[in-house]
Amino acid sequence: MQQGKVLVLHGPNLNLLGTRQPEIYGYDTLDDVNNLLREKAVMAGWEITCLQSNHEGALIDAIHAARVDGTQAIIINPAAYTHTSVAILDALNAFDGQVIEVHLSNVHKRESFRHHSYVSLRADGVIAGLGVQGYKAALEAVMAASHQ
Ligand code: DQA
Repeated sequence: MQQGKVLVLHGPNLNLLGTRQPEIYGYDTLDDVNNLLREKAVMAGWEITCLQSNHEGALIDAIHAARVDGTQAIIINPAAYTHTSVAILDALNAFDGQVIEVHLSNVHKRESFRHHSYVSLRADGVIAGLGVQGYKAALEAVMAASHQ
């Protein structure tokens, strides 16, 4: 029986995960992350879609689609768009479901321009600094929220 539907969005440069500054972002690839989430979601009877894009508009289009296709929750690592994108914030504000913002690194421990997040103005929960575990925790939170 299908329990729910979740969309996982990864922003720019996250396609390079595993080889991009691994001392900060770790050695797991984006496929590793997505496969882990897919396995966990499918085991629990959830439908999951994972999308990475280096283009702001593609992320916004995916958020718009999620408004009308029965998606309950969006887990998003907006990457650098976190700190710049009013457009992604606006799109998320137009989505009625749960929004969890995830960052692999602890952005608050890094450069000051990473301390501000537009997406946090909308996010129901924010996870930073837990690496890939943060995505797992976000998915668990989404699935638990659907039972409340
Ligand atoms: C990131 C943190 C952002 O500041 C950065 O631009 C990223 C990844 C993270 O997952 O830690 O690309 O969102």
